Amino acid sequence: MSPFPGEPSTPGHRSAGPGDEISAEEPSPGGDARPSARVLAGGPVAEAILADVAERVSALRGRGVTPALATILVGDDDASAGYIRIKQRQAAELGFASPHEHLPAAATQADLHAAVAAFSADPAVHGLLVQHPVPGHLDYDRALQSMDPDKDVDGMHPLNMGRLALGMPGPLPCTPAGIEALLAHYEIPVAGKEVVILGRGATLGRPLAMLLAQKRPTANAAVTVVHTGVPDWPRYTLRADILIAAAGVPGIITPEHVRPGSVVVGGGVRYAGRRLLPDVDESCARVAGAITPRVGGVGPTTVAMLFQNAVTAAERASAATAG
Ligand SMILES: NC(=O)c1ccc[n+]([C@@H]2O[C@H](COP(=O)([O-])OP(=O)(O)OC[C@H]3O[C@@H](n4cnc5c(N)ncnc54)[C@H](OP(=O)(O)O)[C@@H]3O)[C@@H](O)[C@H]2O)c1
Repeated sequence: MSPFPGEPSTPGHRSAGPGDEISAEEPSPGGDARPSARVLAGGPVAEAILADVAERVSALRGRGVTPALATILVGDDDASAGYIRIKQRQAAELGFASPHEHLPAAATQADLHAAVAAFSADPAVHGLLVQHPVPGHLDYDRALQSMDPDKDVDGMHPLNMGRLALGMPGPLPCTPAGIEALLAHYEIPVAGKEVVILGRGATLGRPLAMLLAQKRPTANAAVTVVHTGVPDWPRYTLRADILIAAAGVPGIITPEHVRPGSVVVGGGVRYAGRRLLPDVDESCARVAGAITPRVGGVGPTTVAMLFQNAVTAAERASAATAG
């Protein structure tokens, strides 16, 4: 097979929401894994982040502040409701309050904005997320833009993207921040290395490129972003020290795109029903030096970053009130 595939995204597959990973998963047919690479599991990274979050929540509660992460769900999609329940359970375990607004599937854009406005204005709420996707007649981006950016735990508000571009403090996009944390946790050198990202999407590739190019010990990389405008993208991935898949095209990365011994991080996924279809074919484990697993890679770190953003928002709000 040519190392220069150019197939488009598979129609009919829903994009995953940040961290919304379904773990009940059988191996892919024909996925001759025989892994030899070091496996970069997200679970231990997430546990370490969440242990720190729990301590910070406890410190806030000790000062009389209960951090609150509010959620908004529109409609009756089972998967979305399930993701909300998982986040609420995790929030409770960490000591967060988790106020919730469930709007009917027929809710209008004005209803959604009203719910966002109410949580944005509530001083007892520190973090806020609208579960993605919303029903087709609603505009998710407009709802996001109406949110208080300081409460945006997904880190996707345009102001927070601007803060990221300028290196200013603010909530970071969860999946990119989780990938940086994953590489740091496994002590994979990033500074001075060549990182190649396949995909320039707003959720993953673009913010990740900004993050890993920043002047910090766990970043500071030479970052290259490739996409459909670079048809010979394997030329770049084949020289990468760290290859990060962020395309959402199942199986687009195969061993012939991977430099032997390099680090491969699978960020892009699609769902076909409950079946998770990652960008990185499992057989890449035969070539890579280290690789994220098919399930349990960047999903758990994404969720952990959500709570890290929430506790940071609560600390900032509390400090602002005290000051
Ligand atoms: N695991 C998680 O927790 C998590 C969280 C967030 C997102 N994700 C996943 O991350 C992926 C990316 O999401 P996103 O919203 O950032 O991106 P996106 O808007 O879906 O864009 C995909 C990017 O991949 C590029 N691409 C697609 N097909 C390609 C091909 N055949 N050759 C070269 N480049 C190709 C596109 O190039 P063009 O720009 O040229 O079109 C585009 O830049 C999705 O699969 C999403 O589900 C996962």
